[in-house]
Amino acid sequence: MAEASASGSVVFEVSPGGRLSGELGVPGDKSISHRAVMLGALAEGTTEVSGFLEGADALATLAAFRAMGVRVRGPDEGRLSIEGVGLHGLTAPAEALDLGNSGTSMRLLAGLLSGQGFDSTLTGDASLSRRPMGRVTEPLTTMGARIETAEGGTAPLSFRGGQSLVGIDYPMPVASAQVKSCLLLAGLYARGTTRVTEPATTRDHTERMLAGFGYPVKRVATSAAVTGGGRLDAREVAVPADISSAAFFLVGAAMTPGSDLMLRHVALNPTRIGVLHILDRMGAAISVSGQYEVGGEPVGDVRVRGARLQGVRIGADLVALAIDELPALFIAAAAAEGETLVTGAEELRVKESDRIQVMADGLAAIGVSAEPRPDGIRIVGGAIRGGCVVANGDHRVAMAFAMAALRSGEGVRVEDCANVDTSFPGFAELAYEVGLGIRVQREVL
Ligand code: S3P
Repeated sequence: MAEASASGSVVFEVSPGGRLSGELGVPGDKSISHRAVMLGALAEGTTEVSGFLEGADALATLAAFRAMGVRVRGPDEGRLSIEGVGLHGLTAPAEALDLGNSGTSMRLLAGLLSGQGFDSTLTGDASLSRRPMGRVTEPLTTMGARIETAEGGTAPLSFRGGQSLVGIDYPMPVASAQVKSCLLLAGLYARGTTRVTEPATTRDHTERMLAGFGYPVKRVATSAAVTGGGRLDAREVAVPADISSAAFFLVGAAMTPGSDLMLRHVALNPTRIGVLHILDRMGAAISVSGQYEVGGEPVGDVRVRGARLQGVRIGADLVALAIDELPALFIAAAAAEGETLVTGAEELRVKESDRIQVMADGLAAIGVSAEPRPDGIRIVGGAIRGGCVVANGDHRVAMAFAMAALRSGEGVRVEDCANVDTSFPGFAELAYEVGLGIRVQREVL
């Protein structure tokens, strides 16, 4: 495959047809990697991490903690050794912490920085600076934090240190693991108990990892609560493969006759496997084997074979469990027979891009009938012609459209793919190895 090592614009040129086969291990889970750095930094003792995702988002979190005085060795082939400073050991960063494209870094750090003794500022790229932050700054302010935002409640976010936080009981208006995690992390610094109740189940890595670091989390039905004043004890964290990265391959293989792919050591947390349920409902041939637990997270091998897929209805109940996998699932819908209707997915509009609009535009550009709606999309599947789409700097949109080429007549050219490195460095190389006809063009700006 064509390669040039330079930063600038990245284009995927993907030939039509082919199938996916063989075995692969996708990189470490992004959500778990962020949390491993955060809790490792705030623990007493040294936390050894393996399988850490060396993508730009998790690296932004790592750089932020280094800038706050935490000593870390690595990353070296996914290994980190984090010398924890304890919950009260962070020091003031010399300048604003730039979190690039990473919403998870910004929202979770907002909770932690609200409770520190020093002032700090969080910034991000153009996409992150457009994303809604009021959903964290408002409840944090109720807890006693002092935060300044740009007009409209967006980043940059500036925190005034030395505030005393008080626990709150917060029914979350949106189903967001980032909001939940932000408030639980602020709760570590608050007087009394901080309780969050979610309107739909979201990923629970923060609750699991806090418990793993010895911090009690009280979980009752849809609520999670922590009481301030405890401590975190260092432990080992083995990060399993990210099901959100696996999703592109699951979809690619599931919709392409003759494919047979084995994905190893995939994180199968029940709050993340909506993609498996949805593909199953579409008629995909998927089986899971060798299930075990690593550090409180379920893991297993996933085998997927090509099959004829059918359109499906995806409602709010499944949306939160597959929120990051929906762009890939829209491609499965485009290849499936009949109509797919997605509802209750308005959160997609405030991700790294407006994923409803950007996916609808891209689907139309490759000859698929797609009607965007305020809270979802209607896709009529069948034939994918192919053509040129623009990923709008959104990593998951870029990888989803690359897979569409497998079922296209003319191949797919995907422009604006540089941000694939935020979550999945090496995507194109891995995809090429298992059969996708992908070439990468890099242009120096
Ligand atoms: C994440 C939560 C999700 C997800 C994001 C990672 C996390 O966002 O989209 O990629 O690690 O907590 P929301 O919680 O805002 O839906």
